[in-house]
Amino acid sequence: MALATLHEVLATAVKTNTAIPGFNIDNIEGTEAIMDAAEAEQCPVILTVGQGAIKAGQLRHLADLVKRIAQESTVPVVLHLDHGISYEQTIQCLRLGFTSVMYDGSHFPLEENIRESRSVVRSAHAVGVSVECELGAISGVEDGISHKNVNLVDVEEVRRFIGEVDCDALAIGIGNAHGMYQGTPHFDFDRLRACKNLGTPPLVLHGGSGTPDEMIRQAIQLGIRKVNVATELRMAFMAGLERTVGQRDFYEMYRTAKENVTALARHKIQLFQGKL
Ligand code: 13P
Repeated sequence: MALATLHEVLATAVKTNTAIPGFNIDNIEGTEAIMDAAEAEQCPVILTVGQGAIKAGQLRHLADLVKRIAQESTVPVVLHLDHGISYEQTIQCLRLGFTSVMYDGSHFPLEENIRESRSVVRSAHAVGVSVECELGAISGVEDGISHKNVNLVDVEEVRRFIGEVDCDALAIGIGNAHGMYQGTPHFDFDRLRACKNLGTPPLVLHGGSGTPDEMIRQAIQLGIRKVNVATELRMAFMAGLERTVGQRDFYEMYRTAKENVTALARHKIQLFQGKL
């Protein structure tokens, strides 16, 4: 089928009170493994190209890969840019056929974030592409982007932002962080509830790796409609490679890595879809 937009798949999630996975992709094998999981679970999937993959020169390759995979897929697939760093980068992605771009202006003062986000929304919407924005810079390290402090989104800023920016999804900081957590994370669920009560667009939880299942369930119940996972998938892939790297069979080595990723992605999908 044709690629879907973020707006389309999140509309389904809103109706069913579930969340759609935003899985970061880095290479062919990992992407195929994620698609095996999405097909097995018959769940839409957001395949996300992050800044690490872009720095490694993979932007065009991954875009082409996802466009081909989507044609053969029986579930809706979104080609999404993660943490877009500039207006120019989001435009580059529109040209490459992305159906969704994230513009992350969360490290800017509010006014500037609003101004830049509005420009991205205007251009992307003109060609039918969805936009995710961010408020309350999410801490941790993701693809070289690092925020040390845990940033909690300011609810009043959310009110102003959604009044001025017509985005399709909004990522917020509620104590979540990129990368694996040291210990159990603490999420400010009251803050999440307060944001949702403002009538926000579908809310996004970044930093899904290592979050206890129960906390994910609660976040979805309170309005999270997209959950991003990157680090845990990469770790599953690497663990598969490490276990089999001594073998002589090149493809056997990838088989284990892929099986690991498929099993983990299926677990996340079942959790996000309220089946676990
Ligand atoms: P994790 O690496 O913590 O899963 O975070 C992924 C993410 O939020 C991508 O934007």
